[in-house]
Amino acid sequence: MHHLAYALCLLISFVSLSTAQLSPSFYSSSCPQAVSTISNTFLASAKKDNVVAPSTLRLILHDCFVEGCDGSILISSTSGNKAERDAPDNANLPQNSFNAIIAAKQAVEAICPGVVSCADIVALAARDSVVFLGGPSWEVPLGRLDGRVSTASSVTGRIPGANLNAQQLTENFGALGLSLEEMVILSGAHTVGFSHCSQFKNRLYSFNSTVKVDPSLDPSFAQRLENKCPASGPDNLFPFDVVSPFKFDNSYFQDLQSGQGVLFSDQVLFQDASTRPTVELLAGSQDTFFQKFADAMIKMSAIGVKSGSDGEIRLDCTKVNSGSPKVSAPPVQQTPVPSPPVQQTPQVQPPQQTPLQPPPVPVQPLPPAPVLPPPSPVPNFPPPSPPILPPPVAPVVFPPPPVFNPPSPVFNRPSPVFNPPSPVFNRPSPVLNPPSPVFNRPTPVEQPPNNDPSSGTGGGFTIPGIPGLFPPIHVPGPGFGGGPPGSSTNKDSANEGKLTGKQG
Ligand code: HEM
Ligand SMILES: *[C@@H]1O[C@H](CO)[C@@H](O)[C@H](O)[C@H]1NC(C)=O
Repeated sequence: MHHLAYALCLLISFVSLSTAQLSPSFYSSSCPQAVSTISNTFLASAKKDNVVAPSTLRLILHDCFVEGCDGSILISSTSGNKAERDAPDNANLPQNSFNAIIAAKQAVEAICPGVVSCADIVALAARDSVVFLGGPSWEVPLGRLDGRVSTASSVTGRIPGANLNAQQLTENFGALGLSLEEMVILSGAHTVGFSHCSQFKNRLYSFNSTVKVDPSLDPSFAQRLENKCPASGPDNLFPFDVVSPFKFDNSYFQDLQSGQGVLFSDQVLFQDASTRPTVELLAGSQDTFFQKFADAMIKMSAIGVKSGSDGEIRLDCTKVNSGSPKVSAPPVQQTPVPSPPVQQTPQVQPPQQTPLQPPPVPVQPLPPAPVLPPPSPVPNFPPPSPPILPPPVAPVVFPPPPVFNPPSPVFNRPSPVFNPPSPVFNRPSPVLNPPSPVFNRPTPVEQPPNNDPSSGTGGGFTIPGIPGLFPPIHVPGPGFGGGPPGSSTNKDSANEGKLTGKQG
């Protein structure tokens, strides 16, 4: 009896801690420009660097699955503490996304010092990443506090590994209150971004003691993987979705249907009878995927939200405010000082304020600017190394992405806005604006070969193809930055020594 009451108490407090305070309008009086400032700043980073959006979408998983969605992944190690960021399972998270979050934090600190949590910025940036990549949008419930603890040891066993089977994946997500269906839906994030070969190489060369190649792999796809990932050699990157690695769509689920899942944990969702119906459902309807993905993201980004003395509004996302020997103590800033709306300039880009405009009452000195990329490597995306081979097939060229209006990209986007019926937040009934045609583009249009990065649709760049691996991919300019995505050797070699083969 005693135990039952205790369990009930725990349950109730967990539920209320997790969800009760979050609301999309949380900052509407304390910092009305918070959301637009964060989105504008983050999207500017995403446009400059095409690593940012996919890696930030991944970042929120790594934040929320360890100690809840409390921004603890952003905390840097100190001499006395090895932080989550430096755990083996987080080693190959690109620094790019950390930098983009930090830049957004600095922008919002400039208008409302000490008001907006880093954890909320992570949640907003994950949403903005999906929108930027052409996926659904949703209103992000806000009001998370930042955690005051971040330890590498707490990461162990939390981030799902690439070789988990369907039951293990279901258990891993289930421990955090996410259902089997939500696990499959959220795996759809692998419609964008890249994986290191080390995460799936066992499927090609040593599947198990009797079988060399994972039989669930389509044989010709397995060959393409092998070409990019030789048994020994550098730890290259391979796109999760070879057709459209920078486009958030439902092709991931179609890839699974044709045996083209990159990770074992991807393909198994189609192989296993428990998850296959959800894969089939989402492969058949992008609208359904978009709506369910938005719902599931809202739920995932509410895991273990902190309140009271467990949390704070961190002034610098990379450090806890007080109690840390490394903090050059911001004077007695316990209570956040929400600037009254009147004092805020309507200017959305704080860094562009002229010196003549007095900054909006920074009552407290801002913390020292976060040191951007610490020794930690800044991996760049791999343009499949430039072997200058004539493309065997015409390059796949995407139509130009939606053009951003620099002043306020997020709000000028015609992306679909879902008001999901998530019971957790007592939200009004769902109003589903059908996805704008912009995002329902048909399959890529073929164009004559063209490897000149300076030409092509929208001033983008072309990732040269590799025969037998994938055809050249043209990434259009305005939405993805103007240049090639950087050198693969940097990222690969920088991370090679750190890979553990089980990152999520
Ligand atoms: C279902 C269990 C999951 C497993 C086993 C898993 C595993 C992985 C692995 C191994 C990588 C490649 C990392 C690398 O080699 O650099 C990766 C990348 C990625 N993951 Fe997951 N993941 C899972 C779920 C998720 C979820 C729920 C999300 C977000 C909602 C997500 C978003 C991403 C993204 C966007 C990338 C690409 C990152 C980039 O290109 O920088 N993953 N994941
Ligand atoms: C190896 O994998 C194959 C294909 O999934 C399976 O049929 C076989 O039972 C596995 N063998 C061992 C020893 O696990």
